[in-house]
Amino acid sequence: MSTEPKSDLQSNRRDFLSSGALSTAVATTAIAGSSSFLSRSVHAAGSDIIKVGLIGCGGRGSGAANDAMKADAGCRLTAIADVFYDRLQDGKKQLQKTLGEQYAVSEEQCFSGWEALENILATDVDVVCLATPPGFRPAQMEAAVAAGKHVFCEKPVAVDPVGVRRVMAASAMAAEKGLSVVSGLCWRYDLGVKATIEKIQSGAIGEIVSIQSNYLTGTLWNRTPKPEWTPMHKQVLNWLYYRWLSGDHIVEQFIHSLDKALWLHNDVPPVLCYGTGGRQVRTQPEYGDVYDHFAVVYEWADGTRCYASTRQMSECHNETEDFVYGTEGVARVIGNRIRGKIDWKYEGDSPSMYLLEHIALMKSIREGKPINNGDYMCKSTLMAIMGREAAYSGQVIKWDDAMASEMKLGPDKPDWGPAPEIEIPMPGQYKFIDA
Ligand SMILES: NC(=O)c1ccc[n+]([C@@H]2O[C@H](COP(=O)([O-])OP(=O)(O)OC[C@H]3O[C@@H](n4cnc5c(N)ncnc54)[C@H](O)[C@@H]3O)[C@@H](O)[C@H]2O)c1
Repeated sequence: MSTEPKSDLQSNRRDFLSSGALSTAVATTAIAGSSSFLSRSVHAAGSDIIKVGLIGCGGRGSGAANDAMKADAGCRLTAIADVFYDRLQDGKKQLQKTLGEQYAVSEEQCFSGWEALENILATDVDVVCLATPPGFRPAQMEAAVAAGKHVFCEKPVAVDPVGVRRVMAASAMAAEKGLSVVSGLCWRYDLGVKATIEKIQSGAIGEIVSIQSNYLTGTLWNRTPKPEWTPMHKQVLNWLYYRWLSGDHIVEQFIHSLDKALWLHNDVPPVLCYGTGGRQVRTQPEYGDVYDHFAVVYEWADGTRCYASTRQMSECHNETEDFVYGTEGVARVIGNRIRGKIDWKYEGDSPSMYLLEHIALMKSIREGKPINNGDYMCKSTLMAIMGREAAYSGQVIKWDDAMASEMKLGPDKPDWGPAPEIEIPMPGQYKFIDA
């Protein structure tokens, strides 16, 4: 059964994103909510401390906590949580070492178990960094905003359309409450990529004709479970390989490239996509139910296309780049290079994009000027989900159908009981769940 919250914003889901209503709702409510934001931000103003809570003490969560502390000397990490006790302890040791006096987490504010997030939200943290597997993000984002916390929200924001709509509603609610929502789609904060995309958008290669996005990379980690662990423990530990937790690698990783294609289209989403994919090398049971390669064509209403391919295999050619072909030139977005009617290369500074997103977040809190990345983080997540569904089913998937879909993966309330059943999708047989 769907746990989708009902709100006015969701009364006409098909119109919601296609009409740009989320951006409008976010902009309008940001203004409406600014007075409550300002009164709350007085607390964090000047030399006051910004208290940060971390949920998910893994690689990225620890990185995000470090970046948040580096971003603002007045930040303190005051609460940490992880569903696994041993991962909480590992995270704690590492963060204590790297953060020095900015590590201000008492024993009472270290939480493990499934209620870890609720426990963090009950503390007086101002900001929460959401860095758990993406399948948990919609419920966590909703709870964090309901509790009045600013959010750093790792990508992707969901693994299914129901989850995307929950995060859309939560982002609109954040804007209404004057809370900042900063996305972990870090390339949006990279100075070279930003400058390159701005140049393209100002006509440096003429009109965009097509984009070729490659994310061809090696395999990622696969953790050894403890013998006594149940199937549910194993799935949560190795979440990358379970669709209900990661969304598959097109959603979990390739979203970075799809988000750039969206950005190049001024955040107007594609109307449809079709594609292919499969599971050729990672066929063993420890690789759950995910594919190891996808190739998807996205089409926009103006006729432009993005040819998007991603692969996670070792011993193969690797390349991560977005090539943009225009009527008067070609650009490499990650390479920060344009050739054609002008020859240009970004020569400016390249500070860490991960740090820049936290600088933006902390500045927004101190200045009482909320940032809300909700619009693009939800759209690019849905773009990735529709690409996955196109490859799994072998069918054309339309944006409006994806937006209206009732597909919801994973349990409503996870616990250590039986793990969700998994099945490897077979194109031509697998059915996309329509509205
Ligand atoms: N922006 C980027 O470039 C980037 C890079 C890497 C990862 N990420 C994203 O960050 C997120 C985390 O990735 P990671 O590489 O750190 O994974 P990880 O497995 O190293 O860390 C995730 C942590 O969350 C914990 N966890 C799982 N379920 C939980 C729950 N319900 N409540 C509390 N804790 C829970 C796990 O035990 C683990 O310690 C993912 O969404 C991933 O896509 C983003």
